[in-house]
Amino acid sequence: MSVSVLVGSQWGDEGKGKIVDILSEKYEIVTRYQGGANAGHTVEIDDKKFVLHLIPSGILRENVICVIGNGVVIDPTALLEEISLLEKNDIKVAGRLFISHNAHLIMPYHKLLDSISESGENKIGTTGRGIGPCYIDKYARKGIKIVDLLNRKVLEEKIRENLIEKNNLLKKVYEHAELNVEEIIKQYVEFDKAIDKYVKDVPVYLNNAISEGKSILLEGAQGALLDVDHGTYPYVTSSSPTSGGACTGTGIPPTKIDSVIGIVKAYTTRVGNGPFPTELLDDDGESLRKIGAEYGATTGRPRRCGWLDTALVRYSAMINGFDSVAITKLDVLSQFDQIKVCGGYELDGKTLKSFPTDVDRLSKVIPVYKKLPGWKKDISNCLSYAELPKATKDYLKFISGEAGIKIDIISVGPKRQQTFYVD
Ligand code: GDP
Ligand code: IMO
Ligand code: MG
Repeated sequence: MSVSVLVGSQWGDEGKGKIVDILSEKYEIVTRYQGGANAGHTVEIDDKKFVLHLIPSGILRENVICVIGNGVVIDPTALLEEISLLEKNDIKVAGRLFISHNAHLIMPYHKLLDSISESGENKIGTTGRGIGPCYIDKYARKGIKIVDLLNRKVLEEKIRENLIEKNNLLKKVYEHAELNVEEIIKQYVEFDKAIDKYVKDVPVYLNNAISEGKSILLEGAQGALLDVDHGTYPYVTSSSPTSGGACTGTGIPPTKIDSVIGIVKAYTTRVGNGPFPTELLDDDGESLRKIGAEYGATTGRPRRCGWLDTALVRYSAMINGFDSVAITKLDVLSQFDQIKVCGGYELDGKTLKSFPTDVDRLSKVIPVYKKLPGWKKDISNCLSYAELPKATKDYLKFISGEAGIKIDIISVGPKRQQTFYVD
């Protein structure tokens, strides 16, 4: 149990932050491996609520070391704001946070290009954090990395080179004002001074830690269905949230990963565009949003809500290899007389048991539901599996069988103490 990957099983916002905070009591190091400040991971401790975007959620446990891997794209402004917010809350960051020298930097033109491309037709509904354009530059081998900050001459050259192309694009294609290269250089030189102390050779650090027997939790952002390869492309993010991304995004080899933990919300939500077979556009959807406080932790956008889709979770379990899962937000279903669960789909009169990721077919499927009785009891104070009403246990048994998952952790509220292990 020394190296584990934690992955969102659906379209993000499953409650990863909360479960990372719970699990990090048992881990020495927590590492983010992909995504950027598009993530919003919420942790509630007593009367304090923290929303982490770039820094691993383990930062709230003082004995835990936090690492940002090479797979993450780092927005300097967002990172410095987050560090300062944590320090204002008496959470020590220096000496406890390390950043890979190979992580790519989000530049002002990435955010600008993200917002310009979202102002046209065929919107993805991105978070506007510059994620897509930054990964484009990474794969086009034009990106600027943390390590480039350490050499002023290289940094200047790379920014100037990039600005020639980006300003051409802005001016000639988008008829937008050009960006000031000197200002950007100045801004990133300042950033270098602020983050120098955090930079590390992360693959060496993490692999040495594993050799010393230290435990590492790898914190995924987003969710499996937002994965650029395995998700509902093109309505995805531009990184690999699935468990495979944990290796490329950190430098930890697959042979060193001991377990994969999935986070499954007891119903389904999605932010942004793209097909969502079990979406509810009626009063039940409104109730899920209201009771579950389903508003984006990063953008504040209302989340689209629907019933649990076990065909989707089964697909997610297959591509991620979940050893166990945590079920979150079970309490949100407490007020429903009846709860529906999708077990598969119909398409063109035929039954589909598997999840079609191509958006054309996925947008046409008709979910096949099973209706389960609600429990109509407040479960948010339950402290053990034994205390749950019979109908809640039946719901858990049913979804576990349908999705082929082993439920180890149950979350019945946003606070730390509203969590228990299934014996
Ligand atoms: P993440 O991105 O996966 O970390 O999830 P978010 O933080 O974006 O969204 C999850 C939201 O649900 C946050 O507001 C959490 O505080 C809250 N939450 C987490 N677990 C539970 C739970 O079991 N019950 C309830 N009611 N809220 C929860
Ligand atoms: P956490 O880690 C939910 C969604 C956006 C959009 C798509 C692409 O909190 O679960 P991007 O800005 O990444 O280019 O947007 O992905 N998205 C998320 N949805 N939770 C997230 O993160 C998300 N990060 C990105 O809404 O549909
Ligand atoms: Mg979130």
